[in-house]
This record gives sequence, structure tokens and C-alpha cells, in this order.
Amino acid sequence: MGETVNARILGVGHHVPANVVTNADLTRVMETSDEWIQQRTGIRQRHFVTEDQGPADLAIHAAREALDEAAVAPADLDLILLGTLSPDIDFPASASLLQRHLEVSGMPVMDVRNQCSGFLYMLATADAYIRSGAARHVLVVGAETHSTGLDLSTEGREVGVIFGDGAGAVVLGPEPDPRRGILSTHLHSEGKYAEKLMVEPPSSRVMPRVSPDMLTGPGSRLWPRMEGRYVFKHAVTRFTEVINEALEANGLTAADIDLLIPHQANLRISQLVAMGFELPEEKVFNNIQRYGNTTAASIPIALHEARKEGRVPPGSLTCLASFGAGFTWGAALVRW
Ligand code: ACO
Repeated sequence: MGETVNARILGVGHHVPANVVTNADLTRVMETSDEWIQQRTGIRQRHFVTEDQGPADLAIHAAREALDEAAVAPADLDLILLGTLSPDIDFPASASLLQRHLEVSGMPVMDVRNQCSGFLYMLATADAYIRSGAARHVLVVGAETHSTGLDLSTEGREVGVIFGDGAGAVVLGPEPDPRRGILSTHLHSEGKYAEKLMVEPPSSRVMPRVSPDMLTGPGSRLWPRMEGRYVFKHAVTRFTEVINEALEANGLTAADIDLLIPHQANLRISQLVAMGFELPEEKVFNNIQRYGNTTAASIPIALHEARKEGRVPPGSLTCLASFGAGFTWGAALVRW
């Protein structure tokens, strides 16, 4: 093998808990309807854990699948990154728990707390490690157990209906051909919008960190809070901007994209972004209908399904893009 020039995705995997929760199931616990949820978000069902399972417990299955496809042994990993907004425990990192599940030690591990953009932040980090020669094989996993942190009553319905549990993983390695692999990554953040989408407790800036009023009663601060319309509008603008930035950086245009895999936050967001680029339906991958928003896991789950469906053939160009809490957003172009 020649000198490393790019990083390349060698294997992909995903895992979701077996338990399917349909929109009809949610109508039994809150005032909502299948019609409202499908019209506003595209979601038909999501998967929720039914026993104590954190993101590291879901991640291990996705990681093993990706490692198998890549033919990389866990012990040969030089870096393990795990993205989640729902860590198994407050600390240590879920990445440490995943490393334990993989029965390896020694290599560095870390959590990335960048919500829906977590996967692209990790991909960019892995890419930089591999290009610089600091790592040869990197495991990147996005994993979420949202269901244990959602208000599934009518009060929390705006947020409660959109999230699902799951994990997606990729293994990256060196690619000597400069025309293949991850062509470029583009990351952004605007912290001034932190309050537009957040979960506060347990919060070290509050005394005490956890109190009974946080856990009960109307308006509990325990649950995620989101200004949905505000987030929606920003998402469409930032997705479009960052995809354009990635295309321009590589001297490409939207017509060169063979498949766009947007973070699965809302089918309407994906459709508006695709429309702006005049991308036909077959060039956009959506699976939010079956999984809801799995945050850090959504892009690798979608990528795995797209690969299995033969939608990222050798030589084709895939654009990955995300927007989420922070606000944070990003894009990457991948030539297979
Ligand atoms: N079922 C029925 N009615 C509902 C539900 C529900 N589940 N949720 C809200 N409603 C009602 C509201 O109460 C409101 O009623 P009103 O008009 O009587 O006040 C009405 O429906 C409209 O509510 P909106 O909030 O305006 O609905 P909107 O069309 O904006 O859809 C949604 C809400 C789906 C959340 C949308 O705003 C959205 O997708 N936003 C972006 C989400 C996103 O991209 N997040 C970023 C990623 S997540 C992350 O980073 C962690």
C-alpha cells in the first residue's frame, strides 16, 4: 500500500433495539395522531429500548458489524470515538464503556457531545488523525438511548414523537488514492443558540444539580426543550450553506452528488434542502420514517442501509450533512 493521502470508510454497521413503537402506540399515552406526526415529520415508527440499555450497549453491536466488514480486529484500532447526547452515565465516557465491551485497552477513546452533528465532527476528527499518520484505524460510533429521557405525555409531545434509539458505526482506514475516500469535511457552530434546543439537568451550574421539582410537575426541566420552528428554519439554511461550501471546496456542483444522506431530523427538512439543490428523490436517502431522529446515530444508520441497498457504488459521490443543537452543523463529501 502506498502513502496515506486520504481516509476511507472500510466498514459500516448499525443496530436498533427490537421493540418498535408506532405512532398509533404513542396515541395511547399522549394526545397526538399518526396523521400529525407523519405530516409534520415523516416519522411512522421508532425503536425504543425495553430494558436498561445505554448507548454503549447499542454501540457494541454496530461496532462489531463495522469491524467485521472492515476486517479490522478491535485490538488494531488506534482511536475509538463515540458520539452521543444521551451518555450511559454522567462520567466516565460512553466510549470507555464501549472499549470495555470490545475487550480491548490501551488506545485512546473519547466521547463527542455534538448532538445531531456528532457523527460529522467525529468523521472530521478521524480523517485528520488518519491523514496526519497519528492513527491508522479509527472506530466512529454514533449511539443514542433517547427513550429514557423523553416526556411522552401530551406536554412533551412536540419533542417526544421525533426521537428514537439506535446506533451506527463506521471503521476508517488509510486510502492512498487522493481521488477516493473522504474528500473534505466542513464543521461549524454557533453557541449563541444553545438555549434553542437543550436538556439542562443534571446541570453543574445549578444548585443542587438535581432536585425533586426537576423531576415532577408541569414544565419539568428534565426533558429536552426545543423551539421547533426556529430550529427548522435554521436547519434548512445551514444545511444548504454547508453543502454548497463542501461542493465549492472540491470544484463540484450539486449535479455531481450521486447520493445525499442528510441527518434524519425531519423529512420536511430533507425534502426542502433536496429541492433547493434540484436533487431528484432517488438521490436523497431518508429512513426517518422507520427510526425517527436517532441524533448521532442517524447518518451512519442511513449510510449502512444505503450501502446494503447498493446506493453507494464504487466511484460514486456521497454527501453527508447535518444540523442540530448547539447550533452545530457540518458536511462531508465521500468518493467511494
Ligand atoms: N401531536 C399533535 N400535535 C402537536 C404535536 C404532536 N406530537 N406536537 C405539537 N403539536 C401541536 C402544537 O401544540 C401546535 O398546536 P397549536 O397550533 O394549537 O399551538 C401545533 O401542533 C403546531 O406546532 P408547531 O410546533 O408549530 O409544529 P411544527 O410544524 O413546527 O412541527 C416539529 C414541530 C416537528 C418539532 C418541527 O418544528 C421540527 O421538526 N423542528 C426541527 C427539529 C430539528 O431539526 N431538530 C434538530 C435536530 S435535534 C438535535 O439536534 C438534538
